[in-house]
Amino acid sequence: MKQLQKLKKKLRSGLITLEGLDKDELMVLLQHAQRFKDGYTPQSLEGKIVASLFFEASTRTRLSFESAIQRLGGRVIGFSEPGSTSLASKNESFVDTLKIIAAYCDAIVMRHPNDGASKLADELLSIPVINAGDGANLHPTQTLLDLFTIYETQGTLEGVNLALMGDLKYSRTIRSLLEIAVLFNMRIFCISSPEFQLSQQRREFLDEHHITYSCHESVTEVIDQIDILYLTRLQKERFENVSRETRNLSITIPQLFGAKENLRILHPLPRNEEIPPEIDNTPYAYYFEQARNGLFARMALLDIVLGSHDEE
Ligand code: NCD
Repeated sequence: MKQLQKLKKKLRSGLITLEGLDKDELMVLLQHAQRFKDGYTPQSLEGKIVASLFFEASTRTRLSFESAIQRLGGRVIGFSEPGSTSLASKNESFVDTLKIIAAYCDAIVMRHPNDGASKLADELLSIPVINAGDGANLHPTQTLLDLFTIYETQGTLEGVNLALMGDLKYSRTIRSLLEIAVLFNMRIFCISSPEFQLSQQRREFLDEHHITYSCHESVTEVIDQIDILYLTRLQKERFENVSRETRNLSITIPQLFGAKENLRILHPLPRNEEIPPEIDNTPYAYYFEQARNGLFARMALLDIVLGSHDEE
């Protein structure tokens, strides 16, 4: 509990990136999420209003955040379409929009197509800001639920053999996950077609942290070694010079022959062609439970950032 209190102090101003949290702090967060999965539902956000600002499409992140806020007794304000705000239709500046919204709520959860938008909001405002995805940059709460799910399925995060497959270039979920995978000394397998490989900058990041990684063009090359196969869709909305007709790599049932029994397939979702529906019936499919875990990870985070805690 002492560690939880310390974490509450540290995250009082919200969460823009997981950088800066150490392994112990992350484990405290994951253990807290487990309490929520086990049925803990304190009304710790009672009387609090959270603005849910999604300037980019979202299903899971937005609805799990909004469900988490309400389950904890808080209330949500927001807009259904960013186009209905004065920012979009009356040329109001982003900064003015944020200042105004901050006057009406106790915290902001924000997704934005621009890299760094949540950081800007955090610097500008005195209320907590939680980054729900900024451009191709980061998606820290996705990483929390990914870590929770990896721990749930493997019993550890230490030294996990993690394969990343699909769009390794533009995916913010991959970028965020890698930031933390290095702390736990995970072994990384990168599976992608040449145009979606991990950027040079990300490779250097892995090198700096002495992480072993290798690059492959097919999952069959590594299927007997990996514990987690983490797929992503092509982030077509972020493409610069790639044809929108380009297809992603996909997995097939025969490619899973020889897989370790503990292999679990994860995906932040939404999926496109990379996971055909017949994979759902294999014992390896875990992406729907992973999405469900988003609720518990976000309840834990909101409780830590914004909750009142008279029982502790
Ligand atoms: C991801 C996102 O928006 O970054 N989805 C999500 O949050 N669950 C991945 C994606 O859109 O492909």
